[in-house]
Amino acid sequence: MHIPIFGNGDINSPEKALEYRNKYGVDGIMIGRASIGYPWFFNEVKHFMKTGTHLTPPGVKERVQAAKDHLTMSVNWKGEGLGIAEMKRHYTNYFKGISHFKEHRLKLVTSNDLTEIMDLLTMLEENAGDFEFSL
Ligand SMILES: Cc1cc2nc3c(=O)[nH]c(=O)nc-3n(C[C@H](O)[C@H](O)[C@H](O)COP(=O)(O)O)c2cc1C
Repeated sequence: MHIPIFGNGDINSPEKALEYRNKYGVDGIMIGRASIGYPWFFNEVKHFMKTGTHLTPPGVKERVQAAKDHLTMSVNWKGEGLGIAEMKRHYTNYFKGISHFKEHRLKLVTSNDLTEIMDLLTMLEENAGDFEFSL
């Protein structure tokens, strides 16, 4: 009988995921917090394990598009009030490291108006080229 062993806890980089696999020979890895507001993490880990190279991280446009999809799904699932409220804790992670974003983040986490939030996200998507990462 083969009992699969999974590793978890603090896996926050593709290198760490590979180290878990090589050092402990685990059958799988569970990732939690590193994926919050950064769903690209799973693909990045898989790509690194396969090729040893890093995928290009998502730009501002991709991040906004993911946040919009997430908001739409959240509202469809939980209803407008709760769907908007639950999204508020995710924006910081989606837009981590982007310079001059404070004003937009503040609006995203304080507004309860779906149209206003979507309009802001669409504006950010259209003007993604104006933003830079400071990390
Ligand atoms: C947002 C979130 C969702 C999770 N969902 C699941 C799940 O569906 N099934 C599961 O077995 N573990 C789930 N976990 C637990 C993680 O797989 C992992 O074991 C744990 O969070 C520790 O890893 P971390 O340090 O990467 O957060 C989840 C954790 C987080 C933070």
